[in-house]
Amino acid sequence: MARPQRDDELELAVDALAFGGLGVSRSDGFVIFSTDTVPGDRVRVRVRKSRRRFAEAELIEVIEPSPDRITPPCQYVPACGGCRLQHIDYGATLVAKREHIVDHLERIGHLNGIEVRPVDPAVAQFGYRNKMEYSAAPGPGGELRLGFHRRGRWDEVVNVDPCLLATASGNAARDTVRDWAVAHDVAPYDQRAQRGMLRHVVVREGIGTNELLVTVVTAPGADGVVEHLIAPMRAGHPNLVGLLHGVNDGVSEVTQGLPTRCLWGRDYFYEEVLGMRLALSAQSFFQTNTQMTGHLYNRVAEAAGLDGTQVVYDLFCGVGSIGITLAARARQVIGVEIVPEAAADAQRNAEANGVADYRVLTGDVGRVIKEQRDTLPKADVAIIDPPRGGLSGRAIRRVLELEPEVLIYVSCHPATFADNAARFVAAGYVLEYVQPVDMFPNTPHVEAVARFVRDEAAVAQARADADAAAAAKGR
Ligand SMILES: C[S@@+](CC[C@H](N)C(=O)[O-])C[C@H]1O[C@@H](n2cnc3c(N)ncnc32)[C@H](O)[C@@H]1O
Repeated sequence: MARPQRDDELELAVDALAFGGLGVSRSDGFVIFSTDTVPGDRVRVRVRKSRRRFAEAELIEVIEPSPDRITPPCQYVPACGGCRLQHIDYGATLVAKREHIVDHLERIGHLNGIEVRPVDPAVAQFGYRNKMEYSAAPGPGGELRLGFHRRGRWDEVVNVDPCLLATASGNAARDTVRDWAVAHDVAPYDQRAQRGMLRHVVVREGIGTNELLVTVVTAPGADGVVEHLIAPMRAGHPNLVGLLHGVNDGVSEVTQGLPTRCLWGRDYFYEEVLGMRLALSAQSFFQTNTQMTGHLYNRVAEAAGLDGTQVVYDLFCGVGSIGITLAARARQVIGVEIVPEAAADAQRNAEANGVADYRVLTGDVGRVIKEQRDTLPKADVAIIDPPRGGLSGRAIRRVLELEPEVLIYVSCHPATFADNAARFVAAGYVLEYVQPVDMFPNTPHVEAVARFVRDEAAVAQARADADAAAAAKGR
């Protein structure tokens, strides 16, 4: 196939789904990624970008639909950038998610033949999110839009009402903020002009407790007007436990780490998972799918194989939930978390849930373990649950210095997982299996629990190789 040019129209058979949700077609070593297509489709597409070895194209027409193509239930697909897989049968998305893990392990980690188990399906494909972050932006006439960024656009927002991934209570909370903004002429923030007031609305819920915590993020100058939101929020949402106001005076579109004050109620809420009652501060991370979190933690427990004698490190512990779940089967649990509010939540959650031997270190995994090494016990099991970026080289060295017999890696990104997994294998760990869990239906994201065990002979060999390489370098 000659290299296609921008605006060329092509007829293609789609044979795979790339990580991120684009359909993949191959022809003479050339790869075409197309939007809104499904493996098994025959489609007509228009080329948008052409590179040396691949092109990106947009769907014009489905000539022959795949048996896995379905009608997306959401009216905002495909304009909204939130869901990328709503047009694909759920079972087929699970198959593709497993393949993405295998593919990343092979291509990035050069780890072939790893046992990657079928993906555990989610209990619910819609209404599962306990946290929604809505962006505000003006529409063409300056009117408020509150929703998610239009696919591929940083400056445009699709107004959503409702979002099918949110709960009924979460959707209603967002609508109350929208009504307040319209009633009080609170202009949406225009990112291009860097003008306007309302920037984001963050809705968080305890699904097990039915508690609602809402944060409204504005540009500076909303004091006085945000107070008018208290009455409608309280009247319309009996499950509201806190209303917060964050101020963002910068250009970056962030909702965390901003000066935030409590307008009403408290600045945290409770969630329940596996019989634990957890306090979650507004700044603390928590898994966004509560229903599947218990399942994920059960998979972690199964992989950890505890018998009450082990010292467990819960690295990247957030509010301490994994370690607290495992505590009854461990001798001691040590959490490490960088966000101070989350670390404080972890300590108080451990105490409130009757975990006696719990200690949390506040700081970067790559630093704090080294700083406190003299006071720390040897690890039997290390649980690692990093953000999407995975572990830095320094954090990997710290984990290896702890010398855990068993290492459980909870991954939310196949590429960084594959890279990190290869490093643990090179250091002498055996990757026994990977158990994916679908925490994010209708989106390309996939969570996975991986079990590694330490092989003493391989560790000794890896160390000898590293010493020999260092000596050769020094010669
Ligand atoms: C994917 S979350 C996992 C949280 C928790 N294990 C759970 O199941 O809810 C990752 C956590 O790591 C924390 N974190 C990010 N970078 C870190 C670092 N360098 N050192 C320690 N914690 C970090 C984040 O604040 C977040 O709480």
